[in-house]
Amino acid sequence: MCGIVGYVGDNKSLEVLLGGLKRLEYRGYDSAGVAVIDKDGHMGTRKRAGKLQVLVDDLAERPLGNGATGIGHTRWATHGGPTDRNAHPHLSADGKLALIHNGIIENFSELKKELTDTGASFTSETDTEVAALLVGREYEKTGDLTESLRRVVGRLEGAFTLLVMHEDQPGIVVGARRNSPLVIGLGDGENFLGSDVAAFVEFTKRAVAIGQDQIVTIRPDSVEVTDFLGNTVESEEFEIAWDASASEKGGWSSFMAKEISEEPEAVANTILGRVVDGIVNLGELSPIGDDALKDIDRIVIIACGTAAYAGMLGKYAIEQWARVPVDVDLSHEFRYRNPIITPRTLVISISQSGETMDTLMAVKYATAAGAHVLSVCNTQGATIPRESHAVVYTHAGPEVAVASTKAFLAQVTALYLIGLHLAKARGTLSDNAIRENVVELQAVPDKIAEVLRVSQAEIGQLARWMTDIQSVLFLGRNVGYPVALEGALKLKELAYIHAEGFAAGELKHGPIALIEPGQVVFVVVPSPRDPDSLHPKVVSNIQEIRARGARVIAIAEKGDASVLPFADEVIPIPLAGTLFEPLLAVVPLHIFGMELAAAKGLDVDQPRNLAKSVTVE
Ligand code: AGP
Repeated sequence: MCGIVGYVGDNKSLEVLLGGLKRLEYRGYDSAGVAVIDKDGHMGTRKRAGKLQVLVDDLAERPLGNGATGIGHTRWATHGGPTDRNAHPHLSADGKLALIHNGIIENFSELKKELTDTGASFTSETDTEVAALLVGREYEKTGDLTESLRRVVGRLEGAFTLLVMHEDQPGIVVGARRNSPLVIGLGDGENFLGSDVAAFVEFTKRAVAIGQDQIVTIRPDSVEVTDFLGNTVESEEFEIAWDASASEKGGWSSFMAKEISEEPEAVANTILGRVVDGIVNLGELSPIGDDALKDIDRIVIIACGTAAYAGMLGKYAIEQWARVPVDVDLSHEFRYRNPIITPRTLVISISQSGETMDTLMAVKYATAAGAHVLSVCNTQGATIPRESHAVVYTHAGPEVAVASTKAFLAQVTALYLIGLHLAKARGTLSDNAIRENVVELQAVPDKIAEVLRVSQAEIGQLARWMTDIQSVLFLGRNVGYPVALEGALKLKELAYIHAEGFAAGELKHGPIALIEPGQVVFVVVPSPRDPDSLHPKVVSNIQEIRARGARVIAIAEKGDASVLPFADEVIPIPLAGTLFEPLLAVVPLHIFGMELAAAKGLDVDQPRNLAKSVTVE
């Protein structure tokens, strides 16, 4: 959950490092630091607590020499608070080797004791400094940076991406990874390393993902990748599908505002190229194969946070279309509950970043247990897809804001495509029925755009009226329930307001005691048009809470007049089939969370205590 950049090449290392860290800042932003070897061969380091701008301002006042070799880091604190001393890089005892780290070294205490017992002293509270001192000691013996790092990583347990450089070795940066991301950027006379491709996309779109337990040595004109034993390994190059501007704000007040505006195209782009003659055809599933997909007797969806709510919507669609039982598990619960997994189990992981440690560990568990493992992911070359048998990439483009919005819609879209592909493979839907659902799905982007056009201003006004609310409840039934959970999460993580999502039918079993005059309650109202609609029951739920003084904000199909008498506000959404309404109903809740946070003067893109990718368990 930290941002890492490495560079070797021309005398512009500082420009590359700071630019890369800016684009990686969403991965962690409580401190930042750089180390560069200038053209006189002197290694300088600077690190500061606070956001990256604090470091940038410090460097402007007290410049470091620029140079051809550098590493940079933006941190989300794990061991040791966000202070200057705990910021990375950390140095060897002689101060000539610099190291940065993403992850957690789980056996750092015993290693630290070994070091202190042999005279080492520490300047920080971090696990990272242990690695820096160990690599420094190995370098004193070997004089070889790659060999020194290799000797140390074999002793580390846990999750780590490490980058090292040494003052005596200008033009070389060495990296190693285990259970934590690292990708190479291939340049012309220069090469890059980063936690993800955003670190260097403005300089090159040629990238190589580094595999588990591998070490990479970059020089301006060469890249060498080996395993931890020193054996050369082949790596596969890929082209980055988006450009640097895609990860810039582009004039929007926040990345989140930009990304909500991109929700229609996130859905459209995820569908693109995956429908042939009206029928879904996911070639990406071929590594598992349609025969195996026909044979599966259970699906388990694993994910965290917003991705888990997308999984809950996927459950409804896949069960309805493919007629196979689907469970949805939080990744961090899944692997500790001794789940029943057989060769006929399909595990689907959902992760925007593809680096969430809880989900990665659950994927590894499922693979080892013999399940087929399919990942839905928004980040090319990420770790989780590489640990899966097959991957369906969402095409939402880079999602920089910590609070996930467009990626959620793209995840639901991908799960619906998977459900329709399974229905075809298993013969549980006719081609006509598949085509009808594809048409509904393809109509969603325009309907989301309509919600954005019609309601964004009104929802912003509503939010500004509510800056002093202390708690908000969200109600929904059936497919409206995951929407209620997602709306509550957005308010918690953006506006720091206690919010809770409930299945509307559950209210009378306890939570209704929370209702007192003025309590704000959002209600996701299903369409009244469906003969089996739960609309009457939800309207009854609204009446129950209104009778107790709640202030009701209903998200309802435009033209649904039956809600008007019972709601203080009604936010209209376009007509859609039951399974497709959630993709529309969630949009006002994304807007509301963002607008309320902005009205409270909070940082919409980088909320307190959070990081975009939680790469520790
Ligand atoms: C969503 O707004 C949150 N930032 C968080 O719940 C996130 O969805 C969760 O951490 C999973 O992240 P992933 O999709 O990258 O695995």
